[in-house]
Amino acid sequence: MSLEQEISKRKTFGIIAHPDAGKTTLTEKLLLFGGAIQEAGAVKSNKIKKGATSDFMEIERQRGISVATSVLAFEYKDHKINILDTPGHKDFAEDTYRTLTAVDSVIVVVDVAKGVEEQTEKLVKVCQMRNIPMLVFINKLDREGKDAFDLLDEVEQKLGLNVVPLSLPIGMGSDFQGIYNIWENNIQLFLEEKKQKVGDTVKFEDINDPKIDGMIGAKAAAQLREELELIESVYPAFDREAYINGNQQPVFFGSALNNFGVRELLDAFIEIAPMPQPKESDQRIVKPEEKNFTGFVFKIHANMDPKHRDRLAFVKIVSGTFKRNENYLLVREGKKLKFSSPNAFFADKKEVVEESYPGDIVGLHDTGNFRIGDTLTSGEKLSFKGIPSFSPEHFRFINNDDPLKAKQLAKGIDQLMDEGVAQLFVMEMNGRKIIGTVGALQFEVIQYRLEHEYGAKCTYEPISIHKACWVEADEKSAEFQEFARLKQRFLAKDKYDQLVFLADSSFTIHMTQEKFPNVKLHFISEFRHQD
Ligand code: G4P
Repeated sequence: MSLEQEISKRKTFGIIAHPDAGKTTLTEKLLLFGGAIQEAGAVKSNKIKKGATSDFMEIERQRGISVATSVLAFEYKDHKINILDTPGHKDFAEDTYRTLTAVDSVIVVVDVAKGVEEQTEKLVKVCQMRNIPMLVFINKLDREGKDAFDLLDEVEQKLGLNVVPLSLPIGMGSDFQGIYNIWENNIQLFLEEKKQKVGDTVKFEDINDPKIDGMIGAKAAAQLREELELIESVYPAFDREAYINGNQQPVFFGSALNNFGVRELLDAFIEIAPMPQPKESDQRIVKPEEKNFTGFVFKIHANMDPKHRDRLAFVKIVSGTFKRNENYLLVREGKKLKFSSPNAFFADKKEVVEESYPGDIVGLHDTGNFRIGDTLTSGEKLSFKGIPSFSPEHFRFINNDDPLKAKQLAKGIDQLMDEGVAQLFVMEMNGRKIIGTVGALQFEVIQYRLEHEYGAKCTYEPISIHKACWVEADEKSAEFQEFARLKQRFLAKDKYDQLVFLADSSFTIHMTQEKFPNVKLHFISEFRHQD
């Protein structure tokens, strides 16, 4: 098969949702369709139990599961589908943001009763920043939920999306009977009261076909026709290009648990979702069909066995063919590396592969060479852009608790930061180290891993920081010099030697911005790969 054919076969996407909306259930149903798993329950839920903040077994279990479910690949109707798993727990949101740099599209799952929730809002914002094509699946239609049109409005308003319904529920709540699939003009009904079984799909050429009245009753049929008319007049027609450009988001209704509307979603998805897309680098835009291999590291996973400190780096292939045992350039280090056992991922296993193509993810064993955001190429010196670092939410000083193990501690912190577990800031004034995390859970993970993997002990000390702001300014200007003098106690460098202002309150940020208008404060930093 030619490279172009391999590329056009591939769909690499992520599912995002607020915890409990049904991401795991939907993933599992998609895998069942692909024949990648045989029974429901095979995909372990990748979530830490709510409230578990100090259960280290749970953390270890989570690490194990998250490597197993990091990439779930399967074949469906001649397509190779790669689902990239995103952790639902909000303390791991940064991981999810990074994974989103490796997807070509996403499916957003919304709970019909709860509507748009906080985590969904945050994740959708990240997708919008990158114009990632999004498809919305409104789940749990077997339950009492919100009115379909109210939900469509909520999705538009809260998420700022331009929705186009491609399916519509027939009836609501206790009257809910099934789904009208606008995309394919067919109806699928539940077979029984309890809404557990699903009947055959019946196709219609014309919505006025009296057979519909026979199927769902005259009243429901009349309402359905009315609603379809409303959809036609209120919403624009589906426009694939607008969807691919991130300007329009098709919506499907269904029930993942009951396998209702899932095949319709998958069939529409493989037809409309984008194949691997070109990606911007610091030099030029790289196209998937270019002969030479390029790719980037979006996730690093530590080995589960603490005695072997090797790690698995997840590389998304952007262009060309990745080959086993070929020399590739790690651009940041100018170093040639060769991989004798690159892993490909499937739903239930990982395997050594000879070749992988754009859209695919390969897992490379790493002894400490890689950093999140690193670019690998056949030789060309370019770096992919766009792996962001967000301001952490929690900050603490980290202190060495065993003077004999200072080296181990430094190495451990360094490597854990490379993995993207947290962010490190070194105070300009005195060299003290501050760890910043998205969730409080990470502090315990870091302490535990430093001890068990590096033999180092640390303690934390509270520090009152509201946000890390990356500073952009003309460092020679008098304004910057004055800013640096006044704020010297709050200035630090991040891992990439970028200057960061650690502000203690939003008021301070506001005042600083007013006083020093030419010193720009950013809450997001793009990781810079070239030191
Ligand atoms: P998540 O990965 O997004 O966190 O959600 P997950 O799939 O684990 O689903 C959360 C809960 O919602 C699960 O119930 C799951 O069975 C249920 N669920 C998912 N899809 C549907 C649906 O279409 N209809 C209904 N009624 N429920 C659905 P749980 O009781 O929390 O877990 P479990 O014991 O069933 O695994």
